[in-house]
Amino acid sequence: MIVNITTIPGPKGLPISGNLLAFRRDPLRFLREAAKEHGDVAHFRFGPSRHVYLISNPDMIKEILVSKQAHFRKGKGLQVARAVVGDGILTSEGQKHIRQRRLMQPAFHRERIATYGESMVQQAISLMDDWKAGDVRDVHEDMMKVTLAIITETMFGKGLKEGADQIARAIDVGLKYVSTKASSFIDIPLTVPTSSNRQFRESAELLDKTIYNIIEERRREGDQGRTDLLAMLLAARDEDDGKGMTDEQVRDEVMTIFVAGHETTANTMSWIWYLLATNPEAEKKLWAELDAVLGGRLPTVEDIPNLKYVNQIISETLRLYPAAWTINREVAEEVEIGGHTYKPGDTLMMSQYVMHRSEKYYDRPEDFIPERFEGDLLKRIPQYAYFPFGGGPRICIGNNFALMEAALLLATFAQKYRFQLADPGKPVEAEPLVTLRPKGGLMMRLEARSQ
Ligand code: HEM
Repeated sequence: MIVNITTIPGPKGLPISGNLLAFRRDPLRFLREAAKEHGDVAHFRFGPSRHVYLISNPDMIKEILVSKQAHFRKGKGLQVARAVVGDGILTSEGQKHIRQRRLMQPAFHRERIATYGESMVQQAISLMDDWKAGDVRDVHEDMMKVTLAIITETMFGKGLKEGADQIARAIDVGLKYVSTKASSFIDIPLTVPTSSNRQFRESAELLDKTIYNIIEERRREGDQGRTDLLAMLLAARDEDDGKGMTDEQVRDEVMTIFVAGHETTANTMSWIWYLLATNPEAEKKLWAELDAVLGGRLPTVEDIPNLKYVNQIISETLRLYPAAWTINREVAEEVEIGGHTYKPGDTLMMSQYVMHRSEKYYDRPEDFIPERFEGDLLKRIPQYAYFPFGGGPRICIGNNFALMEAALLLATFAQKYRFQLADPGKPVEAEPLVTLRPKGGLMMRLEARSQ
């Protein structure tokens, strides 16, 4: 039976702006309440005519991301990201996306990324050069720094320090710009000379220049045995027509990997430190594992399967604080899901934050219990009740990279230091911008760990 979509209930809104203000005031709360009250599908409006549906049923989510994915395009927020990442695999659609994804996939195979393990650990060690016991630091800033250094080195290889620093600064401006734009919903065109627009354009030009110089240099010199991602992008050839990527396409993919590949992991690391600091039992268990498996030496990729509790901590952190807190899709072609027909232009939201904290699938959903991932939890619950990396043809291409990086960083830092909240009385709020980050950073005190 096809139900008329206007009959789908949802939170009450205002005549013109609909539910936009309530959503913007506290997006996570708004979504959780909508799902709690209205079940599998909740309908609301952003502005007079933009219809949004929050989908909180795992089978429907699967249809949207997997079996009926061809009826959708990426949501509006990501379309804004094009200003930074151009038409790379995060933002491109249809045949172009399929082609680019096929070209890039080999760079993310398990065996290939395993070669990045050493660089991940070394970057963690060099970050700690600046640390000493007793320091009170913004650990979130540190995590951003180390994940950016890692993505830069694995992308461009060593020896690009100067370019990398410039890129880091410019990306920072770009990301702030996208965050503000995506969450403001007010579209001021880039040509309007506001100060943020001007700053953004300047940093975008600088980024372009830096990246195009690197591409040109690499094309001239050849890869000289390099195995970094850029070498792979330049060497990639399409199976069908044997063609490689244009410089512009390489630029877009490089930017995409920079943007998609560091803030998400940095947030995950920050939430890990926060959750460990507030759950000392879990922290003790982690130390016992690190001491037993590593005994004070640096971790390697081969250790990761033996670091079982480390992996459970990461899974549980991605459950409670999924760096990607929602995936949005816009209907491109009329489509039926769960008995409802959605029209072109409708927005469907699927929120990891909502699903991962649902009592339907998780006991004590608000509590940090890494052990819940010990058994067959992921076999018992529906597939899309836990989807930190999305699913279907657009599943995160960097998921193995991210999990490996998080495990190595956690094992390296936690062997040397314990992170305590600088102000334990002050709750750390989650701020849902493009990614879910600790609001205002994460001030922590470093304590040396005696082994
Ligand atoms: C904990 C860390 C990470 C999380 C939680 C995460 C999450 C996600 C999610 C949910 C998507 C799907 C978005 C959608 O369907 O609309 C995605 C896509 C993507 N991610 Fe990640 N990601 C992480 C780390 C990374 C890393 C390290 C890289 C690169 C090295 C990366 C590169 C990408 C790219 C390129 C896409 C677009 C894929 C496509 O559309 O084909 N991500 N990520």
